[in-house]
Amino acid sequence: MKIAFFDTHPFEKEAFDSENADGKHEIHYFEPRLTKETATLAKGFSCVCAFANDRLDKTTLTLLKEGGTHFIALRSAGFNHMDLKAASSLGIRAARVPEYSPYAIAEHVVAMIQTLNRKTHKAYNRVREGNFSLNGLVGFDLHGKTVGIIGTGRIGKVLAKIMLGFGCKVLLYDIKRDEHFARELHCHYAGFEDILRQSDIISLHVPLTSETKHFIDEKAFSQMKRGVMMINTGRGALVDTKALINSLKTGHVGHAGLDVYEEEAGVFFEDLSGKILNDDILARLLTFPNVLVTSHQGFLTHEALSNIASTTLKNISEFEKNLPLSNEVKVG
Ligand code: NAI
Repeated sequence: MKIAFFDTHPFEKEAFDSENADGKHEIHYFEPRLTKETATLAKGFSCVCAFANDRLDKTTLTLLKEGGTHFIALRSAGFNHMDLKAASSLGIRAARVPEYSPYAIAEHVVAMIQTLNRKTHKAYNRVREGNFSLNGLVGFDLHGKTVGIIGTGRIGKVLAKIMLGFGCKVLLYDIKRDEHFARELHCHYAGFEDILRQSDIISLHVPLTSETKHFIDEKAFSQMKRGVMMINTGRGALVDTKALINSLKTGHVGHAGLDVYEEEAGVFFEDLSGKILNDDILARLLTFPNVLVTSHQGFLTHEALSNIASTTLKNISEFEKNLPLSNEVKVG
């Protein structure tokens, strides 16, 4: 099938080329993100392959349909960036990659926790400059701390197991409780407010929906323990960033690790060094010594990339052969 591949990055191209070594699909790699301005690049392509920061709104989808696109292969788990209602009314079908490696993201959470906690990023720079002082590098033992996991799907469950290995007490929160999992791990579910009140570390693993937008707002921050560490690898808009900045300024939030950010589209994944950063909120976040921002790299492992490529191409083959779509995304 002829595929217009948007927002291409070298690390993904390698994985897709290797997965498509038999040349079954004709993949055309485009560097720009998919927006209404770039949608015309897909003219004549029945399939568009899009990533997390491509904009699949009604206008873009309409332009794609006019250009002959019938199928959107999302190479992401999240699909909050696609207007499913508009796609359905246009007769465009879509599929995603629901799971590629929950380990990749959960392990990135641990990397963020321990970077913020043990300040290895600062130690690395210091030592390379001949500064062997330990002042300002004091961290805390993870052992015995309470970790609140919000969203106990694939990623949240892997994180729970890892944190139990550190000797943490793990509290779980989800609208659909998996009591069997909790029993098996000897941890338990708690109410949302209890998690906020009791946790030393809070990690977010729910999808972005109309219910979860700004899940963590000013009120939620005020209910957290003073000095709490919050990690967000879910989606940026789960957190009200202005409320986070206020809580960081008062010291109520002790550390924040963000792999995602509300307005990341057009910034994350791009090399903007040497350019002016026009986003004042992100610029403010970057001034805090206790904030770690990574550029949506939770998924970035060889294993995850290879799984993303194989599932995406499998989704496309299913559509091409008119088979039932195992990973279809649709309204409702
Ligand atoms: P999943 O679908 O396996 O789990 C999500 C969990 O959230 C489910 O258990 C569900 O019941 C729960 N949930 C949904 N709405 C809720 C609500 N209103 N209140 C409480 N719980 C709710 O998803 P998975 O694979 O664990 O991924 C979680 C999120 O992580 C994805 O939606 C995606 O946004 C993000 N993600 C980020 C990546 C990164 O590179 N930073 C990579 C992959 C996913």
